[in-house]
Amino acid sequence: MQQRTTVSHQKIDRKGIVLAGGSGSRLFPLTLGVSKQLLPIFDKPLIYYPLSTLIMAGVREVLFITNPQDLAAFQRLLGDGSQLGMEFSYAVQTEPRGLADAYRIGRSFLAGAKSILILGDNIFFGHGIANMLASAWESEGASVFASLVKDPHRFGVVELDTNGKPISIKEKPKVTKSRWAVTGLYFLDERACDYADDVMPSERGEIEIVSILERYLDDAELSVERLHRGFAWLDAGTHESLHQASDFVKTLQDRQGLLVSSPEELAYRKGLISLEALEKLAWEVRQSSYGEALLALVDQERNA
Ligand code: G1P
Repeated sequence: MQQRTTVSHQKIDRKGIVLAGGSGSRLFPLTLGVSKQLLPIFDKPLIYYPLSTLIMAGVREVLFITNPQDLAAFQRLLGDGSQLGMEFSYAVQTEPRGLADAYRIGRSFLAGAKSILILGDNIFFGHGIANMLASAWESEGASVFASLVKDPHRFGVVELDTNGKPISIKEKPKVTKSRWAVTGLYFLDERACDYADDVMPSERGEIEIVSILERYLDDAELSVERLHRGFAWLDAGTHESLHQASDFVKTLQDRQGLLVSSPEELAYRKGLISLEALEKLAWEVRQSSYGEALLALVDQERNA
């Protein structure tokens, strides 16, 4: 971690979308006044975690999709992205119509580019994540990540053959043999917007991302990477999981003295901002332990 990553020469051909809408009803009353994705996961807002995953993947342009009433709060927190050497835009989703809606709302933003969609409440942490993201970045068609879960009926579930190739994919199946849940991180090519236009609402009245993934599967263009054991995929959708995620981040940070999913740190390590710019960002929040950790990082880098 001490090592400074040099400016990446990765071809910039994917844009990022963070879907941060929804009512957060499973977190009521926490989310009656505040967007779920702005709630704290220990020392930073939940939205910092998926944003960090996108920065790590190599994204420079991000569209945040929020509820109309929360838009101003997201803009106040994240601005236009220039502080991180990035470009942020915003769009609103008037009702939670489903994940595939991100590609309808995001069509003009994507303007024919390949994309990475990440759900605003999904946290990914684990050894090897950078390599995993780098290989998905280069992939053709669609690439998704699957994680073993105890309660597959709560998720999109993919059935895999003995070689790890997907056979079927279903949204919240009542009965399934597979325990592989599809996580909320989707690398899709430029066809995703057209596929999204064709999706019909499911039984729960939503246009499902799984319906888009089925199109890629039918063309044998869906690849599924399995997250190995020891890899943490967390969502913060319930009181229990919100608390667990906070505990997880606090435990790791306390032990290692390193920040988990800091967009400022990652922007610096990706060469998007200078050490001086990082110091300025750290200085603005210096009264918190988060600011102190960033200032300590600046010191370490200066003395490296
Ligand atoms: C959504 C997707 C589901 C996916 C899950 C990951 O579920 O529809 O396929 O497995 O995110 O977090 P939802 O959050 O809408 O219940």
